Amino acid sequence: MPIDAPTPHVTAGPRVGLRPFTPGDAAEFTARAAESTALHRPWLFPPLTAERYAAYAGALTGDPSRAGFLVCEHGGDPGAGGPIAGFLTVNNIVRGAFRSGALGYGAFAHAAGRGLMGEALGLLLAHAFGPMDLHRLEANIQPGNAPSRALVRRAGFRLEGFSPAMLFIDGAWRDHERWAVTAPCG
Ligand SMILES: CC(C)(COP(=O)(O)OP(=O)(O)OC[C@H]1O[C@@H](n2cnc3c(N)ncnc32)[C@H](O)[C@@H]1OP(=O)(O)O)[C@@H](O)C(=O)NCCC(=O)NCCS
Repeated sequence: MPIDAPTPHVTAGPRVGLRPFTPGDAAEFTARAAESTALHRPWLFPPLTAERYAAYAGALTGDPSRAGFLVCEHGGDPGAGGPIAGFLTVNNIVRGAFRSGALGYGAFAHAAGRGLMGEALGLLLAHAFGPMDLHRLEANIQPGNAPSRALVRRAGFRLEGFSPAMLFIDGAWRDHERWAVTAPCG
């Protein structure tokens, strides 16, 4: 593969593909995250500097309890990497009898509201319940985060419960709804 070839997709659909975070994505990721603060706050705080991106991406790629995927829109030129539309992470992966992980995600502003994250989440579910050999994915969402609740509901997640003061976000312990989906049992 040529040295500047785009990183291959792990999985792809009609409009987007998922691929790993790489060190070379730092400039685009942090620029798009900076453009997206109005969309992300107060729910999400992705890295905005090269140094923080390196720590974030490094932790996602070097830890079996985590996985991360960039959501990339297909490029216009054959072989060209498309723009990064957002990202999906799977955290707190536990194996054994649980085979579960906790989702994180964000769209970038230029891509939001176009159905790209919905397609990406569908791809991630198939990948998680296939090659990643997980049985369950959960998404913990603050009750006021309507776009996030809508995204997981459309993807087939069910509301399993409510946990007061569950996660420390933006300087305080925030209540969360616990949404989850399990693999089709066969
Ligand atoms: C949550 C978040 C990732 C959802 O992203 P999104 O861009 O709204 O999601 P989608 O790409 O699926 O787009 C959803 C909308 O696009 C619409 N849409 C437009 N074109 C579409 C198409 N061709 N196909 C499917 N849907 C399309 C959908 O109908 C949907 O509209 P609706 O919400 O009015 O029903 C985004 O709002 C975000 O980044 N929020 C801030 C970060 C955050 O909250 N993270 C999660 C913390 S728990």
